[in-house]
Amino acid sequence: MADHIGVRMCTFFLLFFFVTPNQCMQCHFGCTCFAATNTVRCDSKDLRAVPLSIPGYARTLIVTGNNIPQIGPDSFPELENVTNICLSNNRITELGSHTFSSMVSLRSLDLSGNPLALIHPEALSIPGGPLLELNLSRALYNSTSLTDLTTAMRWGGLAGLVLLDLSGNRLALLAPAAFSRLPSLRHLLLPHNSLASVRSGAFAGPRRLELLDLSHNAFRAFPAEALGELGRLGKARVRLGGNPYLCSCESRRFAAWLDSSAAPRVEDAEDVRCASPRELRDAPLSGVGARAVGCGVPVRGVPAGEASLQTSYALLGLVLGFVGMVSVLVLYLNRKGMKRWVAETREACRDALAGYHYRYEIDTDPRRGPPSDGDGDITLIGTGGSMRCVYSLCGPARRDSHNPT
Ligand SMILES: *[C@@H]1O[C@H](CO)[C@@H](O)[C@H](O)[C@H]1NC(C)=O
Ligand SMILES: *[C@@H]1O[C@H](CO)[C@@H](O)[C@H](O)[C@H]1NC(C)=O
Ligand SMILES: *[C@@H]1O[C@H](CO)[C@@H](O)[C@H](O)[C@H]1NC(C)=O
Repeated sequence: MADHIGVRMCTFFLLFFFVTPNQCMQCHFGCTCFAATNTVRCDSKDLRAVPLSIPGYARTLIVTGNNIPQIGPDSFPELENVTNICLSNNRITELGSHTFSSMVSLRSLDLSGNPLALIHPEALSIPGGPLLELNLSRALYNSTSLTDLTTAMRWGGLAGLVLLDLSGNRLALLAPAAFSRLPSLRHLLLPHNSLASVRSGAFAGPRRLELLDLSHNAFRAFPAEALGELGRLGKARVRLGGNPYLCSCESRRFAAWLDSSAAPRVEDAEDVRCASPRELRDAPLSGVGARAVGCGVPVRGVPAGEASLQTSYALLGLVLGFVGMVSVLVLYLNRKGMKRWVAETREACRDALAGYHYRYEIDTDPRRGPPSDGDGDITLIGTGGSMRCVYSLCGPARRDSHNPT
């Protein structure tokens, strides 16, 4: 109540006497302090450190868009009553040991949008384990920080964690049993990463997982092992949309699983769509069983080489096209030689044609008339039976058999 009056007084003074805020209620210069909502905000003030003058009533501390390279246990004043702290987009690279351990009431910590390269194994442990929500969206700078975080999670300081947001971190692989020491975890958010596989036991540990978000990753398929792991989640909701699914015979098992009772509830089933092959792009994967190309075999006996077969067809096409182009080019460049060859062949055929004359008349349509005796254009000769001349009459053995006399 006293604080309330203090704030009103302060506002009054601010408005009429231009008193700086930190003079009347320890609100750091440049920050905004809202006593009514117990909130302190320090947005984009180019601060180099977390302000140390935070009013005692603060429950929510928001420090974003500044330039704070590292934080440690000395970065914060006594903040025993703060429950929510948002430190997003501050360019923080390093979290020291026991950074938040004085915040015994902290329930929600948002470190999203920082390039965290170094996380001390005990950076996130707080006596009593009060932390419920941890947002590390777009906060892991490289694989070192992921290893650090995995270690921190394994050290057990986060046993009370209910929500973990690891979206947008380019994660390609989850360490085995990475979440095994997070028994209370209910919401595990992993969208917008590069995950391509789920190993057996990947989500072991949380006993009551309610939401697992794997959308917008790099999953092309879920083989049996992954489906088994997802099936273990029981009544949890799962998000699987926005992945580049390959719709082949192989994925029919996944499609069948989606519709079966073995699957958890897929929240975004309408976004589970084929990305390839091209003719099935954007088609819902659940309908792929009927439509997948070239699936004559029952689901279980399906060969795994579908994708590579498509690739080799495409390659074959390319090679044939290339060979064709080269042939046309060679023919074009060598057209003089061709002409000479045709002339020579014609020479060679002339005798044979003279003898062949009678038979030719019997073979072809009489209305077309007899061929000129070899002097005409090659295309004239090429219609009807004359092209046979080159291949059958000019061979010595053949000449005998076709000799009409
Ligand atoms: C925290 O809240 C309690 C009770 O509201 C109060 O007595 C105490 O002074 C507060 N702590 C700080 C550091 O202001
Ligand atoms: C985590 O932070 C990101 C970026 O600030 C935000 O978009 C997201 O909603 C937060 N996650 C949760 C669960 O609040
Ligand atoms: C991750 O980044 C930090 C800081 O730049 C660097 O020291 C470390 O070697 C990097 N780790 C890897 C695996 O590249």
